[in-house]
Amino acid sequence: MCGIVGYVGKKNAAPFLLEGLSALEYRGYDSAGMYVSGAGALKRAGKVAELIACVPDDFEGKSGIAHTRWATHGAPTELNAHPHTDASKTVWLVHNGIIENHSEIRKDLEAKGVVFASQTDSEALAQLIGHLYTEDMLLEDAVRAALAQVQGTYGVAVASTREPEKVVVARMGSPLMLGVGEDGIYVASDATPILPYTRKAVYLDDGEMAIITDQGYVITDADEAHVDKPVTSLEWSAEAAQKKGYEHFMLKEIMEVGEVIENTLRGRLDTANATAILGGFQDTDIHGYLKHAKRIIITGCGSAYYAGLIGKTMIEELAGIPVEVEIASELRYRRPTADPKDTVLIAVSQSGETADTLEAIRAAKRQGILTLGIVNVVGSTVARETDAGVYNHAGPEIGVASTKAFISQVLVFALVALHLARERGLSKQEGSDFIKELETLPEKARAILTRTKAIEAVAKKYAHTRDFLYLGRKFQCPIAFEGALKLKEISYIHAEGYGAGEMKHGPLALIDTDFPSLVLAPRDSMYEKTASNIEEIRARSGKVIALTTDGNDDITRLADDVLYVPETHEALLPVLTTIPLQLFAYYIAKERDCPIDKPRNLAKSVTVE
Ligand code: F6R
Repeated sequence: MCGIVGYVGKKNAAPFLLEGLSALEYRGYDSAGMYVSGAGALKRAGKVAELIACVPDDFEGKSGIAHTRWATHGAPTELNAHPHTDASKTVWLVHNGIIENHSEIRKDLEAKGVVFASQTDSEALAQLIGHLYTEDMLLEDAVRAALAQVQGTYGVAVASTREPEKVVVARMGSPLMLGVGEDGIYVASDATPILPYTRKAVYLDDGEMAIITDQGYVITDADEAHVDKPVTSLEWSAEAAQKKGYEHFMLKEIMEVGEVIENTLRGRLDTANATAILGGFQDTDIHGYLKHAKRIIITGCGSAYYAGLIGKTMIEELAGIPVEVEIASELRYRRPTADPKDTVLIAVSQSGETADTLEAIRAAKRQGILTLGIVNVVGSTVARETDAGVYNHAGPEIGVASTKAFISQVLVFALVALHLARERGLSKQEGSDFIKELETLPEKARAILTRTKAIEAVAKKYAHTRDFLYLGRKFQCPIAFEGALKLKEISYIHAEGYGAGEMKHGPLALIDTDFPSLVLAPRDSMYEKTASNIEEIRARSGKVIALTTDGNDDITRLADDVLYVPETHEALLPVLTTIPLQLFAYYIAKERDCPIDKPRNLAKSVTVE
C-alpha cells in the first residue's frame, strides 16, 4: 500500500501519473514510482518530488501506472518501491494490500529458476503473472489466473510491454476506481487525483476487474461475466481538496467546522415532528428493525471509535437503548453473542476503507445482524457493504489527523439519538429543544474559531512539555481520549486520556509540576465533580488548563489557564469542546515544527490489518 494511479488514453500518461501521486501524498508513503508504456519504469525512495526530478523530457507514452508505497514487507528502498516487474521485464505492476501467501508463491517460482529483485509481497504477484503470461495469452487472462492463486487483499494495476495500450486493474479489499474522461480513462485508489480531470467515476467492487484500453473499459466479475457498473458523479470539487491558503490541511479543515456542521445537518432536521430525518433509515424494513432494536453495538477505530463512545452516551441518555462500543480490531476476533433479531451494528469510518472496521461489519453480517454505516467517503467500501447508513457530508479530509470528520461523526450520532429517542418516548418538546440547540451549533463553532489567538498562546506555553493528561467525565470523557490522541499523533508528545474520576485510582501518581493536565470542565451535569478532580491535581502541584463554558468565572481560581466554548445542550457540548482541543494540538505541533498533515508512521486510511 498506499496510493495507486493509472491512465490509458490520448495524452501522454506521465504528467497525470506524477500529479496523481502528488495528490495522493496525503495518505502517507515512503517511496514512489511509475511505469509508462514505451518509456519504462522510474522509482525513488523518499518523496514524489524526487521522482519528478529524475523524469527525462522524453519520458512519454499513452498509458501507465504509478504508486506511492508505505512499507509493509521490506524496507522503504528504491528496490522495494513499485512498480514491480517479472523476470523478463514484460509485466509491470503496482499493488496496494497484502499478498498473504507471497512466501509460498516466491518459493515455488524460485524453485523454477525465477530470480526475485525485492523483498516485497507485491513482487511475488508480478512474477507470478509474468510466469503464467504465455505468448498466446491476453494480459487480463494472466492476471486473472494469478489472482486465483493469491490469498490476501489487493488493489492492483498491471501493464505489459506486449500490450502497450492496456492497463488491467483488479480489486479485492483495497479500493480502486475509474475516472471516465474525455481523453482517456483514469485509475486511482481514491478520487483526489481524478477530480481535476473528470467528474464521472466508476467504483470497482471486490472480485471485479477492469480491462482498460484506448477504446474504453470493460468490467468483469470473478466469473468473467461482464458487469454494467453505474457511472456516478463526483461531487467534491478539486478546489475543496486543496489547502485554500492555510499553512496546513489540518488547520483548513478545522476552520471549515461551521460549514461542516451545516452540511451534516442539512435537510435532516424535521422541526414539524421534532425529529431527525435520516434517508438511510427510511426504508420500511430498516425502520421497523431499528424501532424494535434492544441492543446497539458501535464499532470503529481511533477517532471514529471515540465518536462511537459519545454516540453511546447520547443514545443511552436520549433513547434509553443499551449500547456497547467496541474497537473494530478487537470486535472482529471476538466470539459473537448478539441476537440478530434485535441487535444493530453501527460502523463508523471517515474513509470507509479501514480494514478492521470492514471485517467487523462482515463478521456481524455473517451472524445476520443489521449493519449501518456512518461514513464520510461516498461510494466507499463501508458505505457499500452496510445495509444502510448516514453520510457525514464533511467533504474530503486530507490531513491525516481526523478533525472535521470526527465532529461530523459526533453530530451524526446526535441525529441518530434524536431519531431513535423520538420513537421511544422523548417528548415533542424535548425533541424541539434539542433541534433548536443543533441549529445554533454552526454559529457557536464559528465563535470558537475567532478565539484561536488565545488557544495558540496557551499552546505555546505548553509546547515543550513531555507528557500531558486529558481528563473529562460523561460526555467529555471520550473527548479527553480524542484530545490526547490528537496531541500525540501530530506533536509526538506523550498524552493520555482518562475519565477524571479515575485519577485517584492510579494516574494521580504521575502528577507533579512538570506533568500538566487539560481538564474538560464545561458547566454540565458533571461540573462540580470535575472541579473536585481539578482540586486533587492542584493539591499535588499539577498545572491545569481548564476548558469550560462561557461565563464560568469560578474556574479561574482553580486553573492556571482557561479556554472557553459557548454553552449548549450537554449532549452537544462534545461538538464544541473538540474544536479548541484540535487547535491546541495543532499549535503545539506547529511550535514543535512537526509535519502536521503527515505525521510519521501514520497513513490516512488504514486498509491493511
Ligand atoms: C486520528 C485518526 C484515526 C482514524 C482511524 C479510523 O486522528 O484519524 O484514528 O480515526 O484510523 O479511520 P476511518 O475513520 O477512516 O475508519
